[in-house]
Amino acid sequence: MGNNFLWILLLSTFLESSYSYDCKTEPRCQISPIHKMKTADCYNRNFKTFPKCIPSDVEVIELTFNRIRKVNKSDLSRFGYLTILYLTDNLLSNLDDEVFKGLESLSTLDLSLNAITKVPSSLFQLPSLNKLYLSQNLNINIIDAVEEAKPISCPLTMLDISLTTYEDNILDFPDFGIMPLLATLNITGNLYIKITPKHFAGLCSLQILINTNVTTDDSDGSCLEADVNRDDMSVYNQCQEIYGQMVMRHRIWKIGIGVGVTLLLLIILACTYFFWIRKKHRKEKAQNQRKENIPIGADGMSLLNNQTKSFPI
Ligand SMILES: *[C@@H]1O[C@H](CO)[C@@H](O)[C@H](O)[C@H]1NC(C)=O
Ligand SMILES: *[C@@H]1O[C@H](CO)[C@@H](O)[C@H](O)[C@H]1NC(C)=O
Ligand SMILES: *[C@@H]1O[C@H](CO)[C@@H](O)[C@H](O)[C@H]1NC(C)=O
Repeated sequence: MGNNFLWILLLSTFLESSYSYDCKTEPRCQISPIHKMKTADCYNRNFKTFPKCIPSDVEVIELTFNRIRKVNKSDLSRFGYLTILYLTDNLLSNLDDEVFKGLESLSTLDLSLNAITKVPSSLFQLPSLNKLYLSQNLNINIIDAVEEAKPISCPLTMLDISLTTYEDNILDFPDFGIMPLLATLNITGNLYIKITPKHFAGLCSLQILINTNVTTDDSDGSCLEADVNRDDMSVYNQCQEIYGQMVMRHRIWKIGIGVGVTLLLLIILACTYFFWIRKKHRKEKAQNQRKENIPIGADGMSLLNNQTKSFPI
């Protein structure tokens, strides 16, 4: 009995000390709310692996300018509320396909300024991802990832693939297929073999294309063709249709919430009224009963009087 207790005590102190030992040697991040989001600020802390000691309920992790070479799924899976992740300017090269899988809340991911060669295709299926920065990963192959991931289902509105190609790595423009919400696309500084209308047919909400210093071989003038071919037109129309459905669904959802709130208010009002009425009724009943009780009491008294009278003296 006593022996067991001692063992448990020893074991727990050992576990505790090994745990705190880990966190004592790890660089410190500053945990604080920024724009009402719980943030782990680990900017420029000389991290070489993904931090293990930041609380799992943070919403923002800022890891810009560190020396992290590898991130795997087990590093990230404990952050259930992670919304924004900055891994800008690290030494990342290989990322497993599954590494970001399950991060349901992740909406902004910055992987700029690394040495990533392959984009994990599962990125393009994240349900909340709307801003993705892949800039300055010189050997990245976006085409393969996109082809593997198609159709892209994440709600991307902003995509930055600037400075990802160079003289030794000239590629075709990636064919993203349909991305109905994409509004901003940054392709600054890239070299492409070819850009054709086909590449933009599925980007029907595109408003800003940042294409400073983009070089492409347009010797056959295919990009400047006056008429867009039928297939591209049909993709464009499909994109617009999906966009329209998304907007409609959003509106219906909003109306649904409005109706729900109104119903709830009505129910609360009805309940309050019901209880008020019931209380009033009870009060009235109690008052009536009190009134009826008085003669009964008097009778009782007279009865008692009668009884005493009937006693033989
Ligand atoms: C994930 O990476 C960490 C280092 O950051 C390592 O300790 C751990 O063993 C890795 N896990 C897997 C499953 O590869
Ligand atoms: C586009 O990318 C370039 C190069 O990475 C960058 O300097 C520029 O700020 C970006 N523009 C926008 C609007 O994000
Ligand atoms: C465009 O290229 C020129 C020459 O290489 C360079 O000086 C300039 O900074 C580049 N502009 C951008 C926005 O990258």
